[in-house]
Amino acid sequence: MIPKISTLSGYLHEYQKSLANPVGFWSNIAETFYWRKPWTKTLEWDFKDPKVTWFKDGKLNITENIFERHLFLRGNQTALIWEPNNPDEAHRSYTYRELYEEVNKFAGVLRSLGVQKGDRVAIYLPMIPELAIAMLACARIGAIHSIVFAGFSAKALAERNNDAQAKILITADGGYRGNKIIPLKETSDEALQMSQSIEKVIVVKRTGQDVNMDKKRDVWWHDLMKNAPQKAPAEIMDAEDTLFILYTSGSTGKPKGVLHTTGGYMVYAAYTFKNVFQYRPNDIYFCAADIGWITGHSYIIYGPLLEGATTIMFEGIPTYPQPDRYWQIIEKHQVNQFYTSPTAIRALLAQGETWVDKYEMNSLRVLGTVGEPINEEAWHWYHDHVGKGRCPIVDTWWQTETGGIMISPLAGIIPTKPAYATLPLPGIRPVIVDNDGNKIYGKNVEGNLCIEFPWPGMARSLWGNHERYKQAYFSTFPGLYFTGDGVKRDEDGYYRILGRIDDVINVSGHRLGTAEIENALNEHPLVAESAVVGMPHPIKGQGIYAYVVAPDKPDNLDDELRNSLVKAVAKLISPIAKPDQIQFVSGLPKTRSGKIMRRILRKIVEGSTDFGDTSTLTNPEIVEELTEGYRKLNIDDK
Ligand code: PRX
Repeated sequence: MIPKISTLSGYLHEYQKSLANPVGFWSNIAETFYWRKPWTKTLEWDFKDPKVTWFKDGKLNITENIFERHLFLRGNQTALIWEPNNPDEAHRSYTYRELYEEVNKFAGVLRSLGVQKGDRVAIYLPMIPELAIAMLACARIGAIHSIVFAGFSAKALAERNNDAQAKILITADGGYRGNKIIPLKETSDEALQMSQSIEKVIVVKRTGQDVNMDKKRDVWWHDLMKNAPQKAPAEIMDAEDTLFILYTSGSTGKPKGVLHTTGGYMVYAAYTFKNVFQYRPNDIYFCAADIGWITGHSYIIYGPLLEGATTIMFEGIPTYPQPDRYWQIIEKHQVNQFYTSPTAIRALLAQGETWVDKYEMNSLRVLGTVGEPINEEAWHWYHDHVGKGRCPIVDTWWQTETGGIMISPLAGIIPTKPAYATLPLPGIRPVIVDNDGNKIYGKNVEGNLCIEFPWPGMARSLWGNHERYKQAYFSTFPGLYFTGDGVKRDEDGYYRILGRIDDVINVSGHRLGTAEIENALNEHPLVAESAVVGMPHPIKGQGIYAYVVAPDKPDNLDDELRNSLVKAVAKLISPIAKPDQIQFVSGLPKTRSGKIMRRILRKIVEGSTDFGDTSTLTNPEIVEELTEGYRKLNIDDK
């Protein structure tokens, strides 16, 4: 069994142990898993190269650690509860044995289609059980899953599939989301016109809507499953073989295929799940994220199932059919741990207290948040109205690249403080550095958040581009992993995440690169240039503000052009990337070397006029135009 910390002194002791002897610390935890062959060396690392190897030469399959390891004791225990979008439709449950059987069958299907170890399988599915089954089936046969959030556009899907050179695409006819139906097959068809590597498309029937099926290429999931073999032996993987890639936005260029490997990710996802949420046998755990993001990978599927937990997967949205859906689910399934985003909390808070106050939710013991900073008002509302003042909140800071939670309270063990992620988990060594890379020690300090020692769950590379991995994470401050976040350490040594300090914005907990949005805007024939920044937003945390230079735009067509730009971004990336506001400007503030001075653009949308030194601008007069324009859009017009 994975060691569980149960007291504050226990945490301090484990943390000290992990500093003094990280190799011994992690190998003790890793030994609790089922390895086909033990590792020869626990850790080799070099952050300069960069190269990190955990559990060298160890052989295993992660699904044997989910299924074979648990079947004897937990075969009849519920592994997965699926709650549909529409509460009138029956929920579905899978025991460990049932899920094992489905995963085996689908693993056999993939093998029969010629999928081999190391092949990439793209998954573009709504939150239905087949998504969980498909990802675990890939892991069973050593295929690398690349899950693409079902809200992404055809172009975004094609771009990811091309980068990964995926061989198979798994999708559905459509997906339900609130009162909307998302035409996933249609979008997939459009994506397939732009991607060459996909040989077969497997289609799950969810909505029953009419879809086009290409006779040679497309096959129904249910047809394939009818004749599937019952057993698929697990592929024996090296600890450092790739388990999955997951695309995320960076500050420049196209999305990055963050690459996670098998052994280290397994150990880290399971250890952090058990300790942060203080999961106890028979608890019912509900993470309301989407499996299209890392939170769903690590804390709906891998972490909980590795720990033998019962995990809930929810297809819908918190406000459908009414804004009490989460609370209903919590009561219906007697949920013990609930994990969601600050954006969801703020959106539900805005609906008023009556929706939540009528639910007792006595089963709840732990609440969690992830993905973005939580403001104090939302924290208190969550604590008082959802947790009824008796559930600790774990504000968990981590990233797609970290694989699992890095800085967070352990529920009920580390005293919480609103808006603070508090302390690092055992094995995690955060450091704060100034802009010159000097480490800043002591309390009440602020700076760039870096990690100075490897942990098992860290990403090992970016798919097909190790140099970019080095550039993105290990070159800003040589010898350290740079997170891209700003952080403060207070008088108690607690960490508070201040948000991204690079050109990444965090909209409703979704990470978006400003460059990607600008590229989409710039494709419009009337747009010469654009600059996108994050602006404070009461619900989404950050909204998207776009400054657009469109010199040939007819004067009376501002609203039409705004609409068509918003639509273009939704089409080229996703509706989540739609600008909230577009300001047409005659130019952007630029330095002599032609770089846009983004600092000024950010200050304007924060309502500040303290622009600092602007003497290096070639066009300082533009600042006044931009400020005036912002005022007009946001203050005068309201
Ligand atoms: O800025 C931090 C923010 O989300 C970023 C990582 O985004 P992504 O890779 O999409 O993963 C999100 C889910 C793990 C971080 O660089 N972030 C994440 N958690 C928190 C947070 N900001 C503040 N507080 C958090 N708890």
